[in-house]
Amino acid sequence: MTSMYPFILALHSTWRWIVLIIFIGGLLRFAYQKKKHGAFTPIDNFLKNTIVITFYTQALLGIMLYILSPITQYFLAHFNTVVHLRQIRFFGMEHSSMMILAAVFLLTGSLKSKNADTDDRRFNILLIWFGLALLIMLSSIPWEFSPLTSRPSFRSF
Ligand code: HEM
Repeated sequence: MTSMYPFILALHSTWRWIVLIIFIGGLLRFAYQKKKHGAFTPIDNFLKNTIVITFYTQALLGIMLYILSPITQYFLAHFNTVVHLRQIRFFGMEHSSMMILAAVFLLTGSLKSKNADTDDRRFNILLIWFGLALLIMLSSIPWEFSPLTSRPSFRSF
């Protein structure tokens, strides 16, 4: 099991770029379609589903990491003392709970958009809920440039 850890860590790190590209590309397309009052086409539906699926795949890898990671294991075993250490608390608590919140926003937006009566409203709902999920995600990634929880931008497998 533990031999899977470096592989899943590298996959989780790399997959983040796929999530981000699809997410931002999809939102730009939704904004463009909304601006020209375009129809919600099968392409938009495909994009919406791809955003959700790539994100949930990343969340699944994250949950696997949460079980395998020595950082989160240490966090859970010494909760009372290490909850004050930012680096460890970030992965034990902040990163995971914020990403779960983003997942809830994505699901809500996706379900609400299905019940919209017009395509304009459908794009609006997607832009708001997915946009909020993107902001949460961007603020919770351990970016290389972050002074608090810096992680490499690319890891080799
Ligand atoms: C439920 C959702 C998620 C959980 C439970 C989760 C969990 C974790 C854990 C435990 C780590 C630390 C692993 C370690 O260093 O031992 C980690 C690292 C990381 N996570 Fe997540 N994650 C989730 C979602 C996401 C999402 C949606 C993204 C970005 C799109 C993301 C991006 C990253 C990055 C970039 C790292 C650093 C990887 C590295 O050190 O190279 N995570 N995650």
